[in-house]
Amino acid sequence: MMQPVAYDSTPAAADHKRLHNFSAGPGTLPLEVMLEVRDQLPVYGDLGSSIMEISHRSPAYTEVNERAVAHLRTLLGLGDDWHVLFLQGGASMQFHQVPLNFLPEGGSADYLNTGSWSKKAIKEAQIVGQSRNAAPHVAASSEASNFNYIPEPATWDLSPDAAYLHYTSNNTIFGTEFAEEPDVDVPLVCDASSDFLSRPMSVERYGLIYAGAQKNIGPAGATVVLVKEDFLQQRRDGLPTMLDYRTHTAKLFNTPPVFAVYMIEKVLRWLQNLGGLPAIQKQNEEKAARLYGAIDATDFYQGTAREDSRSKMNVTFRIKGGDEDLEARFIQEAKGEGLLALKGYRSVGGLRASIYNACAQESVEALVQFMQEFERTNG
Ligand SMILES: Cc1ncc(COP(=O)(O)O)c(C=O)c1O
Repeated sequence: MMQPVAYDSTPAAADHKRLHNFSAGPGTLPLEVMLEVRDQLPVYGDLGSSIMEISHRSPAYTEVNERAVAHLRTLLGLGDDWHVLFLQGGASMQFHQVPLNFLPEGGSADYLNTGSWSKKAIKEAQIVGQSRNAAPHVAASSEASNFNYIPEPATWDLSPDAAYLHYTSNNTIFGTEFAEEPDVDVPLVCDASSDFLSRPMSVERYGLIYAGAQKNIGPAGATVVLVKEDFLQQRRDGLPTMLDYRTHTAKLFNTPPVFAVYMIEKVLRWLQNLGGLPAIQKQNEEKAARLYGAIDATDFYQGTAREDSRSKMNVTFRIKGGDEDLEARFIQEAKGEGLLALKGYRSVGGLRASIYNACAQESVEALVQFMQEFERTNG
């Protein structure tokens, strides 16, 4: 006889404590947002159902979507010439979709190679270029030193006829970030996945900006794509429907990631209430300064990124020049103290603390206290 399938018996969240979460992605989200979502989860307003269980063309969902778009416009100061899209397929889909739309026949686009995600973007542009007698041009790379810095603009070998310059504003794995946005003569295309909305942006330099939501602005499942109308007009015709940006700027073409957009709307509202991008930038700078200050205060810890290229989102560091046993103990003991997800990515090793927008100052403080105590007992 078939047995009934038991419901998941995981205790209610209220029985557990939220810990200090330094996950690189999906990353921590604001507690206020989580609590609001919890309250609204089974029944949204007077709908008699959740937001996940209604048509994406209903007035209730349309309002959520429009509010999310409006928050983005306000936060970044986007004019009517910008389209705001919530697509699926992750930032990884954008690696292909960007050149598919914008790499011209027989032409080129410049790429800055500053980490694993940039490399993946370059690879996709090469694939697209094969059938177009076109290729991405790597204008600068820090690969020879395991991507531990951002190459200086004076060293970039820019091509005069590039359709765009693609760069990764923050390198999640290697803990590096562009201190300044590139200042070039062609439109910028940016993978901003891991520092999106962590500081103001000069949007007038850009043709397209994309970011997976799951680090700074919401749960996994949606990719924000901002594309400017004049840049969009440069795209190729005859593309597969779903991969043509115009399909999505013209109307809500198919079912969007409704739950992700619903949460993004709340995170963006939270951000606006904090004071928007200048306010979050200040908080992010303070958190990063506190953590790098603790690393630099002693020889026990060493940052892996060159100082002028340090990320304010992903802080990568090692213990005693890469003592793997000590690093493993650090991760283990930190977990015991309620400090989660501090293991570095394998290509860098060591430790990584991701301190995205929603990572509270208290979490950084708790980590610094732990680091000092760990050095005292293991130094
Ligand atoms: C900078 C950057 N770009 C792209 C990606 C890939 O994003 P997705 O998993 O949404 O495809 C990541 C994921 O960590 C990332 O950090």
